[in-house]
Amino acid sequence: MKLIIINGPNLNLLGKRENDIYGDETFNDFFERLQKKYPKVKLAQFQSNIEGELIDKIQETGYEYDGIILNAAAYTHTSVGIGDAVKAVTAPVVEVHISNTFSRETFRHVSYISPNARGIILGFGLQSYELALQSFIMDR
Ligand code: DQA
Repeated sequence: MKLIIINGPNLNLLGKRENDIYGDETFNDFFERLQKKYPKVKLAQFQSNIEGELIDKIQETGYEYDGIILNAAAYTHTSVGIGDAVKAVTAPVVEVHISNTFSRETFRHVSYISPNARGIILGFGLQSYELALQSFIMDR
């Protein structure tokens, strides 16, 4: 199975960004652990701070991969373009957030991804990504 994790703005700062909310681990360290734990899954990752690059990556992988695990970060709450890309592609997209966005500011309660997501996992720290991965394995 071929999956990609697509991360949006500021998620390159994991490990040194608001550690009380996002934890101490860098995404690369976490990603390496995940790859080792699920050797049968062909797991790729992509991060960008640029909205259009995220849309390009969703288009590029969304007709080829078995699934996309998407944390669009702040763009979740603003981007009609990313929402449309999620709607356009054939690969199922699982929306992920590290924090429980519903326990935070009200502007984080809105998501342009959710209406077209296969499902949503949030609030479990970096484990949210692993739970999303498991949802693809369970689907099989
Ligand atoms: C986030 C939640 C967003 O509201 C925020 O802008 C992020 C990260 C999360 O994973 O909890 O950058 O997507």
